[in-house]
Amino acid sequence: MLNLIIHNQSEEQKQAVEGIMKSKESVFNEAKAGEKCYADSQGWLDTEEWADDAKLKHLEEFAKEIRANADAFVLIGVGGSNNAARSVVEALREDGAPEIIYAGNTLSPDALNRMMKKLEGKSIYIDCIAKNFETLEPGSSFRILRQYMEKTYGEEAHKRIIATGTIGSSLEELCTKYGYTFLEFPLNVGGRYTAMTNVGLLPMAVAGIDIRALVQGAKDMQKRVHEESAENNIAYQYACLRNLYYQEGYRVEMLSSFEPQFRFFYKWWIQLFAESEGKENKGIFPVAGEFSEELHSVGQFIQDGSPIIFETFLDVTKQNSSLIVAPDEKEDYFNYLDGKDFWEINKAAYHATVTAHSKKLPCLTIEVGELDAYHFGQLFYFFQFACYLSCKIMGVNAFDQPGVEAYKKWMFEALGK
Ligand code: PA5
Repeated sequence: MLNLIIHNQSEEQKQAVEGIMKSKESVFNEAKAGEKCYADSQGWLDTEEWADDAKLKHLEEFAKEIRANADAFVLIGVGGSNNAARSVVEALREDGAPEIIYAGNTLSPDALNRMMKKLEGKSIYIDCIAKNFETLEPGSSFRILRQYMEKTYGEEAHKRIIATGTIGSSLEELCTKYGYTFLEFPLNVGGRYTAMTNVGLLPMAVAGIDIRALVQGAKDMQKRVHEESAENNIAYQYACLRNLYYQEGYRVEMLSSFEPQFRFFYKWWIQLFAESEGKENKGIFPVAGEFSEELHSVGQFIQDGSPIIFETFLDVTKQNSSLIVAPDEKEDYFNYLDGKDFWEINKAAYHATVTAHSKKLPCLTIEVGELDAYHFGQLFYFFQFACYLSCKIMGVNAFDQPGVEAYKKWMFEALGK
Protein backbone atom coordinates (compact mmCIF):
# COMPACT_ATOMS: atom_id res chain seq x y z
CA MET A 1 0.00 0.00 0.00
CA LEU A 2 1.03 3.60 -0.58
CA ASN A 3 -0.42 6.45 1.51
CA LEU A 4 -0.03 10.17 0.99
CA ILE A 5 0.44 12.34 4.07
CA ILE A 6 0.40 16.15 3.95
CA HIS A 7 2.38 17.73 6.78
CA ASN A 8 1.47 21.00 8.43
CA GLN A 9 -1.02 22.06 5.78
CA SER A 10 -2.64 25.45 6.43
CA GLU A 11 -6.39 25.94 6.00
CA GLU A 12 -5.62 28.28 3.10
CA GLN A 13 -3.54 25.65 1.29
CA LYS A 14 -6.19 23.01 1.94
CA GLN A 15 -8.81 25.16 0.24
CA ALA A 16 -6.46 26.09 -2.59
CA VAL A 17 -5.68 22.46 -3.41
CA GLU A 18 -9.35 21.52 -3.22
CA GLY A 19 -9.99 24.35 -5.69
CA ILE A 20 -7.41 22.94 -8.13
CA MET A 21 -8.82 19.44 -7.71
CA LYS A 22 -12.32 20.65 -8.57
CA SER A 23 -11.31 22.85 -11.46
CA LYS A 24 -9.08 20.25 -13.11
CA GLU A 25 -11.35 17.23 -12.73
CA SER A 26 -11.79 16.99 -16.49
CA VAL A 27 -8.00 16.52 -16.78
CA PHE A 28 -8.23 13.58 -14.40
CA ASN A 29 -11.10 11.98 -16.31
CA GLU A 30 -9.36 12.43 -19.67
CA ALA A 31 -6.17 10.85 -18.36
CA LYS A 32 -7.97 7.81 -17.01
CA ALA A 33 -9.71 7.23 -20.32
CA GLY A 34 -6.48 7.55 -22.31
CA GLU A 35 -6.18 10.21 -24.98
CA LYS A 36 -6.12 9.70 -28.71
CA CYS A 37 -3.52 12.42 -29.19
CA TYR A 38 -1.09 10.41 -27.01
CA ALA A 39 -2.08 6.96 -28.28
CA ASP A 40 1.49 6.36 -29.49
CA SER A 41 2.85 6.90 -25.94
CA GLN A 42 0.30 5.34 -23.63
CA GLY A 43 1.04 1.63 -23.86
CA TRP A 44 2.00 1.77 -20.17
CA LEU A 45 -1.42 2.97 -19.01
CA ASP A 46 -2.71 -0.60 -19.00
CA THR A 47 0.06 -2.68 -17.40
CA GLU A 48 -1.40 -5.84 -18.94
CA GLU A 49 -0.58 -4.67 -22.48
CA TRP A 50 3.17 -5.33 -22.15
CA ALA A 51 3.28 -7.49 -19.01
CA ASP A 52 0.60 -10.13 -19.38
CA ASP A 53 1.03 -13.67 -18.15
CA ALA A 54 2.48 -15.01 -21.41
CA LYS A 55 5.08 -12.23 -21.63
CA LEU A 56 6.10 -12.69 -18.00
CA LYS A 57 6.43 -16.44 -18.51
CA HIS A 58 8.66 -15.92 -21.50
CA LEU A 59 10.85 -13.45 -19.61
CA GLU A 60 11.08 -15.70 -16.57
CA GLU A 61 12.17 -18.66 -18.68
CA PHE A 62 14.69 -16.63 -20.62
CA ALA A 63 16.07 -15.08 -17.42
CA LYS A 64 16.38 -18.57 -15.91
CA GLU A 65 18.52 -19.69 -18.83
CA ILE A 66 20.74 -16.60 -18.52
CA ARG A 67 21.03 -16.99 -14.75
CA ALA A 68 22.17 -20.59 -15.19
CA ASN A 69 25.00 -19.57 -17.54
CA ALA A 70 26.04 -16.03 -16.65
CA ASP A 71 28.23 -14.55 -13.96
CA ALA A 72 27.38 -11.08 -15.22
CA PHE A 73 24.79 -9.45 -17.45
CA VAL A 74 25.63 -6.18 -19.15
CA LEU A 75 22.70 -3.78 -19.46
CA ILE A 76 23.55 -1.43 -22.32
CA GLY A 77 21.14 1.50 -22.20
CA VAL A 78 20.74 5.10 -21.21
CA GLY A 79 17.97 7.13 -19.55
CA GLY A 80 14.66 5.37 -19.81
CA SER A 81 16.35 2.29 -21.24
CA ASN A 82 18.26 1.74 -18.01
CA ASN A 83 16.86 3.64 -15.02
CA ALA A 84 13.84 1.53 -14.05
CA ALA A 85 15.72 -1.78 -14.09
CA ARG A 86 18.69 -0.26 -12.30
CA SER A 87 16.54 1.21 -9.54
CA VAL A 88 15.08 -2.17 -8.61
CA VAL A 89 18.21 -4.23 -9.27
CA GLU A 90 20.37 -2.02 -7.06
CA ALA A 91 17.78 -2.13 -4.27
CA LEU A 92 16.74 -5.78 -4.33
CA ARG A 93 19.22 -7.92 -6.30
CA GLU A 94 19.18 -11.49 -4.99
CA ASP A 95 22.38 -12.84 -3.44
CA GLY A 96 24.12 -15.12 -5.90
CA ALA A 97 22.32 -13.69 -8.94
CA PRO A 98 24.49 -12.60 -11.89
CA GLU A 99 26.10 -9.23 -11.37
CA ILE A 100 24.43 -6.51 -13.44
CA ILE A 101 27.00 -4.28 -15.15
CA TYR A 102 25.86 -0.99 -16.68
CA ALA A 103 27.09 0.28 -20.05
CA GLY A 104 25.78 2.54 -22.76
CA ASN A 105 25.29 5.46 -20.40
CA THR A 106 28.66 7.18 -20.81
CA LEU A 107 31.23 8.16 -23.45
CA SER A 108 34.07 8.46 -20.95
CA PRO A 109 36.94 6.17 -22.01
CA ASP A 110 38.00 5.84 -18.40
CA ALA A 111 34.53 4.67 -17.32
CA LEU A 112 34.29 2.38 -20.35
CA ASN A 113 37.68 0.81 -19.64
CA ARG A 114 36.69 0.23 -16.02
CA MET A 115 33.43 -1.37 -17.17
CA MET A 116 35.30 -3.66 -19.60
CA LYS A 117 37.69 -4.67 -16.83
CA LYS A 118 34.77 -5.94 -14.78
CA LEU A 119 34.05 -8.51 -17.52
CA GLU A 120 37.40 -10.27 -17.26
CA GLY A 121 37.17 -13.93 -16.31
CA LYS A 122 33.38 -13.88 -16.12
CA SER A 123 30.74 -15.60 -18.18
CA ILE A 124 28.93 -12.69 -19.84
CA TYR A 125 25.58 -11.97 -21.51
CA ILE A 126 24.78 -8.55 -22.95
CA ASP A 127 21.48 -6.79 -23.68
CA CYS A 128 21.47 -3.61 -25.77
CA ILE A 129 18.28 -1.69 -25.03
CA ALA A 130 17.44 1.25 -27.29
CA LYS A 131 14.18 2.55 -28.66
CA ASN A 132 15.89 4.78 -31.15
CA PHE A 133 19.11 3.02 -32.08
CA GLU A 134 20.71 6.30 -33.07
CA THR A 135 21.56 7.17 -29.49
CA LEU A 136 25.33 7.46 -29.35
CA GLU A 137 26.01 6.15 -25.83
CA PRO A 138 24.35 2.72 -26.16
CA GLY A 139 25.25 2.41 -29.84
CA SER A 140 28.97 2.94 -29.24
CA SER A 141 29.03 0.70 -26.16
CA PHE A 142 27.22 -2.04 -28.08
CA ARG A 143 29.96 -1.92 -30.73
CA ILE A 144 32.81 -2.47 -28.26
CA LEU A 145 30.88 -5.07 -26.28
CA ARG A 146 29.92 -7.05 -29.39
CA GLN A 147 33.56 -7.08 -30.43
CA TYR A 148 34.51 -8.31 -26.96
CA MET A 149 31.87 -11.05 -27.12
CA GLU A 150 33.05 -12.18 -30.56
CA LYS A 151 36.65 -12.26 -29.42
CA THR A 152 35.79 -14.16 -26.25
CA TYR A 153 33.10 -16.58 -27.43
CA GLY A 154 33.82 -16.84 -31.16
CA GLU A 155 31.02 -18.52 -33.11
CA GLU A 156 28.96 -18.94 -29.95
CA ALA A 157 28.88 -15.20 -29.22
CA HIS A 158 25.48 -14.60 -30.82
CA LYS A 159 23.84 -16.88 -28.26
CA ARG A 160 24.84 -14.47 -25.53
CA ILE A 161 23.85 -11.26 -27.29
CA ILE A 162 20.37 -9.80 -26.80
CA ALA A 163 18.94 -6.60 -28.19
CA THR A 164 15.72 -4.91 -27.10
CA GLY A 165 14.54 -2.64 -29.90
CA THR A 166 11.44 -1.64 -31.77
CA ILE A 167 9.97 -3.80 -34.52
CA GLY A 168 11.42 -2.79 -37.86
CA SER A 169 14.38 -0.95 -36.33
CA SER A 170 18.02 -1.27 -37.38
CA LEU A 171 18.58 -3.10 -34.09
CA GLU A 172 16.10 -5.76 -35.14
CA GLU A 173 17.87 -5.96 -38.50
CA LEU A 174 21.19 -6.60 -36.74
CA CYS A 175 19.58 -9.39 -34.72
CA THR A 176 18.14 -11.06 -37.78
CA LYS A 177 21.41 -10.79 -39.68
CA TYR A 178 23.72 -12.03 -36.93
CA GLY A 179 21.44 -14.35 -34.93
CA TYR A 180 21.15 -12.29 -31.74
CA THR A 181 18.06 -12.70 -29.59
CA PHE A 182 15.58 -9.92 -30.26
CA LEU A 183 13.13 -8.59 -27.68
CA GLU A 184 10.47 -6.07 -28.50
CA PHE A 185 10.72 -2.52 -27.20
CA PRO A 186 7.11 -1.27 -27.33
CA LEU A 187 6.60 1.41 -29.94
CA ASN A 188 3.79 2.91 -27.89
CA VAL A 189 5.80 3.39 -24.67
CA GLY A 190 8.46 6.08 -24.24
CA GLY A 191 11.71 5.10 -22.51
CA ARG A 192 10.96 6.56 -19.09
CA TYR A 193 7.60 4.74 -18.91
CA THR A 194 8.96 1.25 -19.73
CA ALA A 195 9.46 -0.31 -16.29
CA MET A 196 6.71 -2.88 -16.94
CA THR A 197 7.93 -4.01 -20.35
CA ASN A 198 10.79 -6.15 -21.69
CA VAL A 199 13.01 -3.09 -21.19
CA GLY A 200 12.79 -3.08 -17.40
CA LEU A 201 11.67 -6.61 -16.68
CA LEU A 202 14.38 -8.78 -18.30
CA PRO A 203 17.35 -7.26 -16.42
CA MET A 204 15.33 -7.36 -13.21
CA ALA A 205 14.43 -11.03 -13.70
CA VAL A 206 18.08 -11.88 -14.38
CA ALA A 207 18.96 -10.21 -11.06
CA GLY A 208 16.48 -12.48 -9.29
CA ILE A 209 13.74 -9.90 -8.76
CA ASP A 210 10.22 -11.30 -8.47
CA ILE A 211 8.85 -9.59 -11.59
CA ARG A 212 5.39 -11.09 -11.05
CA ALA A 213 5.13 -9.34 -7.70
CA LEU A 214 6.41 -6.13 -9.28
CA VAL A 215 3.84 -6.25 -12.07
CA GLN A 216 1.11 -7.12 -9.57
CA GLY A 217 2.04 -4.01 -7.59
CA ALA A 218 1.71 -1.88 -10.73
CA LYS A 219 -1.61 -3.50 -11.62
CA ASP A 220 -3.03 -2.92 -8.14
CA MET A 221 -1.98 0.72 -8.26
CA GLN A 222 -3.43 1.05 -11.75
CA LYS A 223 -6.77 -0.29 -10.47
CA ARG A 224 -6.63 2.04 -7.50
CA VAL A 225 -5.91 5.26 -9.36
CA HIS A 226 -8.49 4.44 -12.01
CA GLU A 227 -11.17 3.59 -9.44
CA GLU A 228 -10.65 6.10 -6.65
CA SER A 229 -12.82 9.20 -7.05
CA ALA A 230 -11.04 12.46 -7.88
CA GLU A 231 -11.31 13.87 -4.36
CA ASN A 232 -9.80 10.72 -2.79
CA ASN A 233 -7.38 9.86 -5.55
CA ILE A 234 -3.80 9.54 -4.34
CA ALA A 235 -2.18 10.30 -7.72
CA TYR A 236 -4.49 13.20 -8.57
CA GLN A 237 -4.07 14.68 -5.11
CA TYR A 238 -0.27 14.50 -5.37
CA ALA A 239 -0.36 16.06 -8.87
CA CYS A 240 -2.60 18.90 -7.67
CA LEU A 241 -0.44 19.54 -4.60
CA ARG A 242 2.68 19.82 -6.78
CA ASN A 243 0.90 22.28 -8.98
CA LEU A 244 -0.27 24.33 -6.01
CA TYR A 245 3.31 24.54 -4.72
CA TYR A 246 4.46 25.52 -8.21
CA GLN A 247 1.90 28.35 -8.28
CA GLU A 248 3.17 29.42 -4.86
CA GLY A 249 6.66 29.81 -6.33
CA TYR A 250 8.32 26.53 -5.32
CA ARG A 251 10.45 25.46 -8.27
CA VAL A 252 12.27 22.39 -6.89
CA GLU A 253 10.88 19.13 -5.57
CA MET A 254 13.19 17.01 -3.47
CA LEU A 255 12.37 13.31 -3.18
CA SER A 256 13.90 12.27 0.12
CA SER A 257 14.19 9.07 2.06
CA PHE A 258 16.13 7.55 4.89
CA GLU A 259 16.55 4.30 2.91
CA PRO A 260 19.70 4.42 0.74
CA GLN A 261 18.24 1.54 -1.26
CA PHE A 262 16.23 4.17 -3.13
CA ARG A 263 19.45 5.65 -4.56
CA PHE A 264 18.77 4.60 -8.14
CA PHE A 265 15.01 4.94 -7.85
CA TYR A 266 15.64 8.66 -7.37
CA LYS A 267 17.40 8.71 -10.72
CA TRP A 268 14.41 7.07 -12.39
CA TRP A 269 12.02 9.52 -10.71
CA ILE A 270 14.20 12.51 -11.60
CA GLN A 271 14.22 11.51 -15.26
CA LEU A 272 10.47 10.88 -15.28
CA PHE A 273 9.57 14.32 -13.98
CA ALA A 274 12.38 16.36 -15.54
CA GLU A 275 11.93 15.00 -19.05
CA SER A 276 8.14 14.89 -18.91
CA GLU A 277 7.44 18.25 -17.31
CA GLY A 278 10.42 20.49 -17.98
CA LYS A 279 9.40 22.21 -21.19
CA GLU A 280 7.94 25.45 -22.55
CA ASN A 281 9.76 27.31 -19.75
CA LYS A 282 7.68 25.43 -17.16
CA GLY A 283 8.16 22.60 -14.70
CA ILE A 284 9.38 21.69 -11.24
CA PHE A 285 13.05 20.71 -11.10
CA PRO A 286 13.34 17.29 -9.43
CA VAL A 287 16.24 16.51 -7.09
CA ALA A 288 16.95 13.75 -4.57
CA GLY A 289 17.79 13.87 -0.89
CA GLU A 290 19.62 10.77 0.24
CA PHE A 291 19.19 11.05 3.98
CA SER A 292 20.42 11.08 6.55
CA GLU A 293 23.77 11.73 4.80
CA GLU A 294 22.63 14.82 2.93
CA LEU A 295 21.10 16.42 5.99
CA HIS A 296 24.73 17.22 6.70
CA SER A 297 25.22 18.93 3.34
CA VAL A 298 22.13 20.29 1.60
CA GLY A 299 20.10 20.13 4.82
CA GLN A 300 21.26 23.64 5.63
CA PHE A 301 19.85 25.03 2.35
CA ILE A 302 16.56 23.16 2.71
CA GLN A 303 16.01 24.59 6.17
CA ASP A 304 17.35 28.13 5.73
CA GLY A 305 18.10 28.86 2.07
CA SER A 306 15.97 30.36 -0.74
CA PRO A 307 12.39 29.17 -0.35
CA ILE A 308 12.21 27.35 -3.69
CA ILE A 309 12.09 23.72 -2.50
CA PHE A 310 9.24 21.52 -1.40
CA GLU A 311 9.88 18.00 -0.21
CA THR A 312 8.31 14.59 -0.77
CA PHE A 313 9.52 11.88 1.58
CA LEU A 314 9.36 8.16 0.85
CA ASP A 315 8.86 6.41 4.17
CA VAL A 316 9.00 2.60 4.35
CA THR A 317 6.64 1.52 7.11
CA LYS A 318 7.38 -2.20 7.54
CA GLN A 319 10.60 -2.97 9.36
CA ASN A 320 12.87 -4.99 7.08
CA SER A 321 15.97 -5.21 9.21
CA SER A 322 17.17 -4.86 12.75
CA LEU A 323 20.42 -3.88 14.41
CA ILE A 324 20.50 -3.26 18.15
CA VAL A 325 23.06 -0.93 19.73
CA ALA A 326 24.64 -3.02 22.47
CA PRO A 327 25.71 -1.26 25.71
CA ASP A 328 29.45 -0.63 25.94
CA GLU A 329 31.58 -0.37 29.07
CA LYS A 330 33.78 2.26 27.42
CA GLU A 331 32.27 5.71 27.89
CA ASP A 332 31.66 7.13 24.39
CA TYR A 333 28.81 9.53 25.30
CA PHE A 334 26.31 7.59 23.19
CA ASN A 335 24.81 5.60 26.07
CA TYR A 336 21.40 7.09 25.34
CA LEU A 337 21.29 4.68 22.40
CA ASP A 338 21.82 1.53 24.51
CA GLY A 339 19.37 -1.20 23.52
CA LYS A 340 17.83 0.84 20.73
CA ASP A 341 17.31 -0.59 17.26
CA PHE A 342 18.75 1.33 14.30
CA TRP A 343 15.29 0.97 12.75
CA GLU A 344 13.94 3.11 15.57
CA ILE A 345 16.89 5.55 15.44
CA ASN A 346 16.45 6.02 11.69
CA LYS A 347 12.71 6.64 12.17
CA ALA A 348 13.48 9.24 14.85
CA ALA A 349 15.71 11.02 12.31
CA TYR A 350 12.88 10.92 9.73
CA HIS A 351 10.29 12.34 12.15
CA ALA A 352 12.68 15.02 13.39
CA THR A 353 13.47 16.05 9.80
CA VAL A 354 9.81 16.26 8.81
CA THR A 355 9.09 18.34 11.92
CA ALA A 356 11.95 20.73 11.18
CA HIS A 357 11.47 21.03 7.41
CA SER A 358 7.68 21.29 7.45
CA LYS A 359 7.93 24.45 9.55
CA LYS A 360 9.66 26.09 6.59
CA LEU A 361 8.50 24.39 3.39
CA PRO A 362 5.64 22.23 2.11
CA CYS A 363 6.32 18.60 2.98
CA LEU A 364 4.56 15.45 1.84
CA THR A 365 5.21 11.82 2.70
CA ILE A 366 4.41 8.84 0.57
CA GLU A 367 4.29 5.89 2.92
CA VAL A 368 5.56 2.73 1.25
CA GLY A 369 4.24 -0.44 2.92
CA GLU A 370 7.42 -2.46 2.38
CA LEU A 371 10.68 -2.26 0.50
CA ASP A 372 10.01 -5.09 -1.93
CA ALA A 373 9.29 -5.74 -5.60
CA TYR A 374 5.53 -5.37 -5.14
CA HIS A 375 5.89 -1.86 -3.75
CA PHE A 376 8.38 -0.84 -6.43
CA GLY A 377 5.65 -1.80 -8.91
CA GLN A 378 3.19 0.40 -7.01
CA LEU A 379 5.65 3.30 -6.98
CA PHE A 380 6.35 3.07 -10.72
CA TYR A 381 2.70 3.19 -11.67
CA PHE A 382 1.81 5.80 -9.08
CA PHE A 383 4.51 8.24 -10.18
CA GLN A 384 3.97 7.64 -13.91
CA PHE A 385 0.25 8.34 -13.63
CA ALA A 386 0.77 11.30 -11.28
CA CYS A 387 3.41 12.74 -13.60
CA TYR A 388 1.06 12.48 -16.56
CA LEU A 389 -1.67 14.26 -14.54
CA SER A 390 0.77 16.88 -13.33
CA CYS A 391 1.93 17.63 -16.88
CA LYS A 392 -1.66 17.91 -18.04
CA ILE A 393 -2.46 20.37 -15.26
CA MET A 394 0.64 22.35 -16.19
CA GLY A 395 -0.33 22.23 -19.85
CA VAL A 396 2.67 20.35 -21.27
CA ASN A 397 3.03 17.11 -23.23
CA ALA A 398 4.25 14.43 -20.78
CA PHE A 399 5.58 12.15 -23.49
CA ASP A 400 7.94 14.10 -25.71
CA GLN A 401 11.44 15.46 -25.04
CA PRO A 402 12.25 18.01 -27.75
CA GLY A 403 14.92 19.66 -25.60
CA VAL A 404 17.08 16.53 -25.58
CA GLU A 405 17.56 16.75 -29.32
CA ALA A 406 19.42 20.09 -29.29
CA TYR A 407 22.73 18.81 -27.91
CA LYS A 408 22.54 15.71 -30.10
CA LYS A 409 22.41 17.86 -33.24
CA TRP A 410 25.66 19.65 -32.33
CA MET A 411 27.33 16.45 -31.18
CA PHE A 412 26.50 14.53 -34.37
CA GLU A 413 27.78 17.50 -36.35
CA ALA A 414 31.04 17.54 -34.37
CA LEU A 415 31.49 13.79 -34.94
CA GLY A 416 30.76 13.97 -38.65
CA LYS A 417 27.60 11.86 -38.63
O1 PA5 B 1 12.43 8.57 -21.85
C1 PA5 B 1 12.96 8.71 -22.94
O2 PA5 B 1 12.33 8.61 -24.00
C2 PA5 B 1 14.46 8.92 -23.07
O3 PA5 B 1 15.02 9.23 -21.88
C3 PA5 B 1 15.12 7.69 -23.62
O4 PA5 B 1 14.83 6.61 -22.80
C4 PA5 B 1 16.63 7.86 -23.71
O5 PA5 B 1 16.94 9.01 -24.42
C5 PA5 B 1 17.26 6.66 -24.40
O6 PA5 B 1 16.72 6.51 -25.67
P1 PA5 B 1 16.96 5.21 -26.56
O7 PA5 B 1 16.32 4.06 -25.89
O8 PA5 B 1 16.30 5.54 -27.84
O9 PA5 B 1 18.45 5.05 -26.66
